[in-house]
Amino acid sequence: MSNVILKHISHSYDRVRVLENVDLTIGEGEFYTLLGPSGCGKTTLLRILAGFITPSEGEVWIGDQNITDHGPEKRNMGIVFQNYALFPNMTVRENISYGLRVRRLPKNVQQDRCDYYMELAGMKEYADRRIQDLSGGQQQRVAIARALVIEPRMLLLDEPMSNLDVALRVKMREEIRSIQKKVGITTLFITHDQQEALSISDRIAVMRGGHVLQVGTPDEIYNSPNQEFVANFVGTSNLLDGRYVRPEQMQLLKSGDGIPARVTGIRFSGVYYEYTARASDREYRIIELNDGSGASFKDGDPCFVSVKPEVLSSAALKAVSSGISHDDAHLTAASSRAGQSAAKAAESAQNTARKEGRL
Ligand SMILES: Nc1ncnc2c1ncn2[C@@H]1O[C@H](COP(=O)(O)OP(=O)(O)OP(=O)(O)O)[C@@H](O)[C@H]1O
Ligand SMILES: [Mg+2]
Repeated sequence: MSNVILKHISHSYDRVRVLENVDLTIGEGEFYTLLGPSGCGKTTLLRILAGFITPSEGEVWIGDQNITDHGPEKRNMGIVFQNYALFPNMTVRENISYGLRVRRLPKNVQQDRCDYYMELAGMKEYADRRIQDLSGGQQQRVAIARALVIEPRMLLLDEPMSNLDVALRVKMREEIRSIQKKVGITTLFITHDQQEALSISDRIAVMRGGHVLQVGTPDEIYNSPNQEFVANFVGTSNLLDGRYVRPEQMQLLKSGDGIPARVTGIRFSGVYYEYTARASDREYRIIELNDGSGASFKDGDPCFVSVKPEVLSSAALKAVSSGISHDDAHLTAASSRAGQSAAKAAESAQNTARKEGRL
């Protein structure tokens, strides 16, 4: 197993620090995503891994080999850039086989490999088309085939879908993931789109301002964010007794033991209703699935906000509290208090439900 390891990486451009002590380990065959807002240092980190930039501090290792001083040509990385950087006047086949020609591989190997990766990317029937005559999605497939055809040690994808419209992005991310699984190649993927990151990755590193804030599976990042920035960057969250609780883990009741509030907004998305409810201390977001019977509340209705009983009694509660790592002692205490009051709330919600004959 050859892990790719970034050790204590810091980098400055003209004395401006843009990466600060980044430590990452990417496992063999893993689909690893860097997620963060514009300017947080994602591309810089990718370029350090590819060997285009030597970091101001820190080391890059593959397995037990320190490759910090190796140039890009010695690292054998397949890269897809945001703008694809294809040769517009060449055909699909010429673009894909370019790296093989440069490496002077025998003609029959060039032909076979090019055919294999064109087929994998679904571009075989376009082999003789010029790049300028392809759609955005087709160009992206060519860029991926061109990166893979050299059989690189690792695939690096820098926001490869930012030129595509939303529907195509969703389709292409599934294709990329399926190609990656088939080839089994270790992949570093960059995006600032949280949906994309959650749906495609084995693990995600959330970055901000040159720092890695949290590394985890999509499930861990979404259900157990370790700080407010992560919680809000990968979705909406409510802060309740020191825990981040997602809108779909909350409920609005007409009566009960929750926090008294008033509905101040409803947004319908088709699949669900998203309510905003104002309590004395703050605003809450609550999601109700659309079961076809219409919204349970309208603007201005009084309501009670609480955490869903099944969330309180499930592992999710533990996950939420265990994910809070900074200032552990303080927050764990807060979480366990929250757990207790939440358990009480669940019990009383069940009592109410029983009284109302719903259980
Ligand atoms: N060649 C350069 N010279 C000076 N500063 C640079 C250079 N390249 C990037 N930067 C700065 O470094 C910081 C990180 O840039 P980087 O391109 O790594 O961010 P990013 O996370 O990839 O952003 P985006 O999502 O917009 O692509 C930014 O503040 C950027 O302005
Ligand atoms: Mg970038």
